Amino acid sequence: MRNLLSIADLTNDEIEQIFELADSAPRLATDKTAAGQIMATLFYEPSTRTRLSFESAMHRLGGAVISCSDMKSSSAAKGESLADTAKVVSSYADVLVVRHYWDGAVQAMAENADVPVINAGDGRREHPTQTLCDLYTLRKEKGELRGLTVVVCGDLKNGRTIHSLVFALARFGANVVTLAANGMELPQYVIERLEREYGYSLAPVAADDLSEVVTETDALYLAPKQPHQLALFTQVDAAMQNRLNTMVSGLRYDAFYVTRKQKERMKEGTTGGSYPSIGPSFLKQSRFKETVVMHPLPRVDELSREVDKDWRGIYFKQAAYGVPVRMGLLKFLFDQRESKKPSAKKIAKWYQSPEPLGPQCPNANCVTVTETGSTRRRFELVSGSPSGALLLACVYCNHRFKVQFVGHTKSKRYCSYDMALSDTVGDWFKKKELAIFDSIKEAEELGYEPYKSGPQRTIMDQTEIQDAVREISQQILRDCEDVDRLLILGVKTKGSYIGQRIAGELEADRKRKFEVGEIEIYGSLEEIRRISVEEPNELPLNLKDREVILVDDVIYTGRTVKTALSIIFKAGRPRSVRLAVLIDRGHREVPVKPNYVGKHIPSSERERVRVKLREAEHDEKDKVVIYSMISPAETVV
Ligand code: NCD
Repeated sequence: MRNLLSIADLTNDEIEQIFELADSAPRLATDKTAAGQIMATLFYEPSTRTRLSFESAMHRLGGAVISCSDMKSSSAAKGESLADTAKVVSSYADVLVVRHYWDGAVQAMAENADVPVINAGDGRREHPTQTLCDLYTLRKEKGELRGLTVVVCGDLKNGRTIHSLVFALARFGANVVTLAANGMELPQYVIERLEREYGYSLAPVAADDLSEVVTETDALYLAPKQPHQLALFTQVDAAMQNRLNTMVSGLRYDAFYVTRKQKERMKEGTTGGSYPSIGPSFLKQSRFKETVVMHPLPRVDELSREVDKDWRGIYFKQAAYGVPVRMGLLKFLFDQRESKKPSAKKIAKWYQSPEPLGPQCPNANCVTVTETGSTRRRFELVSGSPSGALLLACVYCNHRFKVQFVGHTKSKRYCSYDMALSDTVGDWFKKKELAIFDSIKEAEELGYEPYKSGPQRTIMDQTEIQDAVREISQQILRDCEDVDRLLILGVKTKGSYIGQRIAGELEADRKRKFEVGEIEIYGSLEEIRRISVEEPNELPLNLKDREVILVDDVIYTGRTVKTALSIIFKAGRPRSVRLAVLIDRGHREVPVKPNYVGKHIPSSERERVRVKLREAEHDEKDKVVIYSMISPAETVV
């Protein structure tokens, strides 16, 4: 039995197979391929096209459809779990088509259903059948997917159709240009996956290339093995110039895929700002004379009705293909029912805590958070992330987060995770002796004790830290070309505290406010956010043409900074980015050089440097300490 929960569940060959079936839809209809079969549609969110085209497809195949006219009037309203609904409805139907507002809801349903489950959109996560329609449409229009350049446009952060589509485009060898509204960029984990799995690299698109589609942010070009590489630009002007030289321009744009602002998935008050839109000026540009315009629909005002009359506006055709494509998909899944062949998606090694307390997915919209009873907290263990951190990726919603504390179930010891532990932790994982904790409290509640560390040495005390922050702030002001453009961006969490202190110094000196933001490196939905206690709902930070000061507590391999730069670059094209760190440990793997350093402390891999700040610690005073770990591997009996 096969489900379709993610576009990754299908191989390229299988997608082609589904397209062939879609081409033969009239024959499938004559043959009444699904006679005697029942499809249940469970839609917990509004839908017109997806639901009706699925239902139409099933009817055309000679099957029947059962449904709840409104899930609010189903037993869900009485508090029934998704698991129970799935179990019950799968005894009434041969296939379930589910749309839900929780990320990963379809995974939870599939785990409990006895019949195939098709994802018709789950929260912000994926919408694989829309992608099938999109690819089918593109292929019909353009002949082949390989080598096409598709501009994905609008709300790339919250749009689930986009998340399924960009992976599929990469798999078929198409190039992707991202043109996001400010604050709605493609999530970093998507870009990293494209880099890691498909060898895609990122290059900026020349600003005037897409100026007909007005936006505050800039476009990025994602293509396989391009000579252009996103340069690191901590040494401002010269490097910035260099980077601009590698811009791509004069691309041939084959399609614009426009999306609606997903207002229902945003915090109130954060939906303002300019939004890229397609209208008459786009149509007039000779550059776009062969560019088709697509949209998953419904549209709001990002796509002018002018385009409807032009041959390039193919979104109604795209919607019409929904029926044959879904007929093809249903036929494909029915045929696969008896097959033992697993889905295309490689099941990675899943981590489930052997202890009663353990990591929890931090995505508030994840089904494991909203429906704890019938889901199991399972994660994919992601090592080798660009920043060297150990990450967990939720099996349900794919949200990634950093492992904070690791413990060994046999020796009942724990410590904070560090790159130097990667082999040891890998070993524990294999032996099922790995405990992961989100906090010290969890570890201690289970009777775990900390690993012993060597003696600590204080290398900076409170006064030295304060002096360093003051000195860095002075240097920033000296180097700054235009204080109005200055933006302090701290890496969460400690870099962000130091950033706020720097801003405090600047404000005292200049008697004015400065914008301060925080950047989160690991798969959070809000990668860059404003730090503003008074007005939490202000518009997202705008990075375009800013003089950004990126702040972190310690720089070591440089990988965190590299990821941070890539996130910054994705969110807009700043005038410059300078890097300020309290401690430089040396030993860089990535060639980044901080512009402002509090103290240089060359240290070895076995040593740990910890910056303790009063904002985060219970200690009254700030200090920086260095100590060496007695390797857990050596202390394990
Ligand atoms: C999309 C969805 O629900 O994600 N709609 C659709 O299925 N065509 C897009 C949207 O709602 O913007």
